[in-house]
Amino acid sequence: MTGGAGFIGSNFVLQWLATEGTPVVNLDKLTYAGNLGNLQEISADSRYSFVHGDIGDRKLVSDLLGRSRPRAIVHFAAESHVDRSIHGPDDFVRTNVNGTFGLLEEARAYWTELGNEDKVRFRFLHVSTDEVYGSLKPEEAAFSETTPYSPNSPYSATKAASDHLVRAYHHTYGMPVLTTNCSNNYGPYQFPEKLIPLTILNAMNGKAIPVYGDGKNVRDWLYVADHCDAIRAVLSRGKVGETYNVGGRNEKPNLEIVHAICSILDELRPADPVVPHSKLITYVVDRPGHDRRYAMDTRKIERELKWQPGETFESGIRKTVEWYLANETWIREVTSGHYREWIATQYSV
Ligand code: NAD
Ligand code: DAU
Repeated sequence: MTGGAGFIGSNFVLQWLATEGTPVVNLDKLTYAGNLGNLQEISADSRYSFVHGDIGDRKLVSDLLGRSRPRAIVHFAAESHVDRSIHGPDDFVRTNVNGTFGLLEEARAYWTELGNEDKVRFRFLHVSTDEVYGSLKPEEAAFSETTPYSPNSPYSATKAASDHLVRAYHHTYGMPVLTTNCSNNYGPYQFPEKLIPLTILNAMNGKAIPVYGDGKNVRDWLYVADHCDAIRAVLSRGKVGETYNVGGRNEKPNLEIVHAICSILDELRPADPVVPHSKLITYVVDRPGHDRRYAMDTRKIERELKWQPGETFESGIRKTVEWYLANETWIREVTSGHYREWIATQYSV
């Protein structure tokens, strides 16, 4: 797998070893978003190994494939934060487009040399996003697997480009690829630049909770373990060359998310500096090009692969808040100098 030290990737490795149990090699560059602390509990597990490197390093990837001889590649590594893509799109093109291209080329070379049986069994699973479909109006139907691509941010444009490359490698070379397009994830180990962990941390600490625009942008939220579960279902039972939408059927405006977190904190942390925590909600300047609404039609994965999310939003958000409250050391370690610089740049106006 690639990107296993990030938010979803680390949840995936932990779930994989606890369920499937077969060996995992994790290739990760350890950007600001990669954190080996997420994987501390399995660092000595003989089924797990870590390789520090860039997916765009063709020689490294080629050597690694030759050495570890995987039966599948699950590709999580990406620059993932929309706001950062607006400030600096270069890394997004480098990793999400060129990096995925390099990885595909090396995977193709490896796959071509496999014996017949292994060639048929091999899978390249590309983890992508609902943002490639663009933005929905309130009355429009949810995105399905056949909705035309219409990405609006540098982040979603680079993810769309990578999805197209993956698709082309199946169509042109017959590579056994699968793509998942998932909605917004939340849960343990999410870097606190994203709405939910940022809200939890700021609220606990009596800091302003920044809400972009009118707070009515809608996202479809899915607990991260359910996303990992969906990826495992697609990897084992998905039809080669197909794409699968993954989501929580759980559309909510941002303000509702923020209020839900504040209410849980009012109950669990009545002695915080500012209570009720919702007093901290502060409207700030909107994200340029901010997509208004995402919603996922997940009937295909439910029908064909019998996947269903296990958490409701209410159960998942409570678990998430409790996880952050119980993991102050993790928070302290990730909110280092670089993190503080990012917050200062992003929220200075
Ligand atoms: P993240 O930013 O938390 O983690 C990304 C990981 O990739 C980090 O460990 C980072 O070090 C690594 N990485 C970045 N560039 C690399 C490179 N060039 N070579 C090797 N490793 C590199 O991201 P996330 O939220 O865990 O997202 C994982 C994947 O899932 C991404 O592809 C993202 O587009 C997709 N996705 C995310 C969400 C979400 O809500 N977070 C939803 C749908 C899809
Ligand atoms: O939809 C899937 C995508 O979800 C993934 O592909 C991305 O990798 C992931 O980052 C996420 O993108 P979003 O832009 O939707 O997530 P974010 O947490 O940054 O923002 C969620 C919503 O909250 C969005 O409408 C912007 C708003 N927001 C965000 C931040 C950080 C705020 O109002 N204030 C904030 O401070």
